[in-house]
Amino acid sequence: MLILGIETSCDETAAAVVEGRRVRSDVVHSQVSLHADYGGVVPELAARDHLANARPVIEQALRDADVTLSDIEALCVTCRPGLSGALLIGTQIASALAWATYTPPIGVDHLVGRLLAAYLEFPGRVCPEPPDFPFLGVLASGGHTALYRVNGSHHTEILEIGATRDDAAGEAYDKVAKLLGLGYPGGPLIDRLAREGDPDAIPLTKPMSKKDTFEFSFSGLKTHVARWVKENGLPENDATLRNLAAAFQRVVTDTLMEKALAAAESEGLSTIALAGGVSANSSLRERGAVLCEAQGVRFIVPDFRACTDNAAMIAYAGSFRAQRGEGDRGVLAISPRTILPRLTRKGGGPRAPLDRPPLD
Ligand code: KG4
Repeated sequence: MLILGIETSCDETAAAVVEGRRVRSDVVHSQVSLHADYGGVVPELAARDHLANARPVIEQALRDADVTLSDIEALCVTCRPGLSGALLIGTQIASALAWATYTPPIGVDHLVGRLLAAYLEFPGRVCPEPPDFPFLGVLASGGHTALYRVNGSHHTEILEIGATRDDAAGEAYDKVAKLLGLGYPGGPLIDRLAREGDPDAIPLTKPMSKKDTFEFSFSGLKTHVARWVKENGLPENDATLRNLAAAFQRVVTDTLMEKALAAAESEGLSTIALAGGVSANSSLRERGAVLCEAQGVRFIVPDFRACTDNAAMIAYAGSFRAQRGEGDRGVLAISPRTILPRLTRKGGGPRAPLDRPPLD
């Protein structure tokens, strides 16, 4: 089935054509430079930029896949969670295209797309063997950080079992980079510096390191770095900057992986799959593999293209609903919140039915 995916939930305007797991085209227009001066995404600017770029991005995706709109059998679009103005642009365009082509529009929860991104096969790449259900999904991006039990591809089969109480991991990277005057987005910049630093040179405490909770607090970690800067001043030389970056990165990596391994053990899951922008992190990928191997857990990292916002994962996640003949014609609504239920008290989605006791 040929599926067109559209993604505009935050700061990337993306369109892709997917056939099964195979990505036929994948076009992403990034707004990073638009928001760079502000150190974060400005919702109004994001929505306007999506409006300006959606049409050329979609046209490019169709051209790259060597198809026309009339070949498309279903239109999948991110409808939640995200910035309301940005989501509205994507869903309105998808609805209009669906109306014009007699194709069902299918709303997709962005987080479901993220968690299934490891299944995508990009042309010309060696793709990792995808995870078997059930698996533990570790989603770490600029807007979300949570652990999920993923029993299947439908949103009703995914349960959030742990999440950040405050900042997402990527947000912490961006805020720490801003604090150190490095620029935006902070993740790749800190990652590069950290590779040449000594993670043990500067002691930073792991926040929420108690074993009996699957919650995170990356705001706490950012505060530790801010306190270090207050006491010691901004790093005066490259070596100290690299060491601080390495220490911060080690704490983020170990926190994510230790909680993930504990959650996998508690849920009886033998596979951990990463998702989200932070899963591009070199230390998370390397240490994750080492820590998982030591515990006999299969560790899956998505292709780099699948780590950041893209529309291929939205098309793929929506394809299961399309195959069942489902659609959202006339009822495609947006929401800033995810539909995925959560066990923890804090988190983005609705509270899970209490036949499982809350974890906190
Ligand atoms: O998934 P993503 O592209 O979308 C949003 O959630 O917006 O994630 C972006 C986030 C940013 O916070 C960025 O700093 C972080 O992912 N990121 C990284 C790396 N590359 C991107 N964080 C750590 N290491 C990286 N290599």
